[in-house]
Amino acid sequence: MKHFSIIFKPDGRQISIHSGATIVEAAGQAGIILNTVCGGKGTCKKCLVYLEPDAREVLACQYRIESDLVVTIPAGSRFFEQRILTEGIDTGSRIQCDIYEKYARTDSAPPIFGLAVDLGTTTVVARLIDMAGGQCRATEAALNPQTRFGDDVISRIAYAQSDKEFTELHETIIDCINDLAAKLCKKAAVGTNHIFEICVAGNTTMNHIFLGLPITQLGQAPYQAYSLDARDVPPGELGLKINPAGNIHTVENIAGFVGADTTAVALATDIESAEEMTLIVDIGTNGEIVFGTKDKLYAASCAAGPALEGARITCGSRACDGAIEAVVINEDDIDLDVIGNVPPHSICGSGLIDAVAVMLELGVIDRTGRFAEPKTLGDKLPPAILARFFEQDDQPAFRLAGAADNPVLLSQKDIRQMQLAKGAIRAGIKLLQQKIGLEDSDVKRILLAGAFGNYIRRQSALRIGLLPAVDAERIRFVGNAAAAGAQMILLSQQCRDQARELARKIEYVEIAHESDFQMVFADSMLF
Ligand code: FES
Repeated sequence: MKHFSIIFKPDGRQISIHSGATIVEAAGQAGIILNTVCGGKGTCKKCLVYLEPDAREVLACQYRIESDLVVTIPAGSRFFEQRILTEGIDTGSRIQCDIYEKYARTDSAPPIFGLAVDLGTTTVVARLIDMAGGQCRATEAALNPQTRFGDDVISRIAYAQSDKEFTELHETIIDCINDLAAKLCKKAAVGTNHIFEICVAGNTTMNHIFLGLPITQLGQAPYQAYSLDARDVPPGELGLKINPAGNIHTVENIAGFVGADTTAVALATDIESAEEMTLIVDIGTNGEIVFGTKDKLYAASCAAGPALEGARITCGSRACDGAIEAVVINEDDIDLDVIGNVPPHSICGSGLIDAVAVMLELGVIDRTGRFAEPKTLGDKLPPAILARFFEQDDQPAFRLAGAADNPVLLSQKDIRQMQLAKGAIRAGIKLLQQKIGLEDSDVKRILLAGAFGNYIRRQSALRIGLLPAVDAERIRFVGNAAAAGAQMILLSQQCRDQARELARKIEYVEIAHESDFQMVFADSMLF
């Protein structure tokens, strides 16, 4: 299958994508989330973009890519920027960058920067933000270095038995953020003393470790937070190397297992004003689910594990250069989209969901997740696909890319990890649905958020049974909404007030203790 190069302006980002993909998908690969209010049906006209050389207007959701393109995306067609960018859009959706004022009044030399941090269990994403205008100057991501002490929140809590180990966890994350801040400042050619404000949104355990608050109680029933409140702390108190006159703001948590990151997601996606029943799924190591409308909001959490962020998967990685982020079937084989202009060497979350959907479609695995015997598929599959079967450590495996001696593969074990992750998320959604009495058909809109890849194909997410059975056009991918929310809270007092209200308003539902949890979970692991 042919691939084409797409350049996005004014971002200056370039990606390569398979022929037939839409501009919405291509933009997603470039990390730009477009406004797709009608779910890509071509009716809302919110995804308008311009094609060079003659600025021809096209709808990004309808335009199928059959050549190299240069695409300009106006601010109004972007999902988050609509709420974040402060220039050139109608004042109704403007965010007032009033946090800036408190520093601008002092005699500090401009420019004044801030850092919006999405502090995940597996991945930490930091954005350098111009506090005066709200624009993002640079983004950096890193593996949360606490991963070496355990890859989920429970194992981190178990690790922090004594003060010494707790301090080790705390200092590790402070070092990581200092490191990201230094890298971002280098990219933007400014000193770290120009950073005055940091806003951190993470799950409750990450929030507590970051602030140095006790976490033992989070590891045992009833899993209570030590504090749900937002905090403002001087940087020196936490050892953060930014301007000492600055401030560190952490966002309100909702409950022991639904943290400030969910508050940030709820804010960025504006679920507070949802007229229709909306489901937000934020996929991370700790998956969070928010359900509701402007009248009533519920949240729950599920222990998805880090598979969709690439951990515990043989060739898994986060979304970085060389990661396979999409897999499609062509006439006689499969085809891949890879991030960056480099050969594939790993697979990230969105690629994983695609790959499993494709393997199901081809019959490589069945709905229990078990690999088929290649000889039973002999006459059903093209030779190029049959040649991808092999064995590794006595386990059946499927080669996605790479040479036979160094393949990018998915093994039986990887499929099992993926089933655990998707089973946990789907079970969480089902149990919350049961609790509030909702059928799949009552779900009018699904917003899929996460930092695990740039774009999830809706058909693939439905094919593997990650989500309630709804029409594909009801699903929208909203990218890293936690980072977007952290950015809004970083900039604006009004958003801080709104976040506080939201955290208070969202009702936490404990689903792990439901009597049929095990049964629903086992059922949800099936594809
Ligand atoms: Fe493209 Fe609605 S017209 S998303």
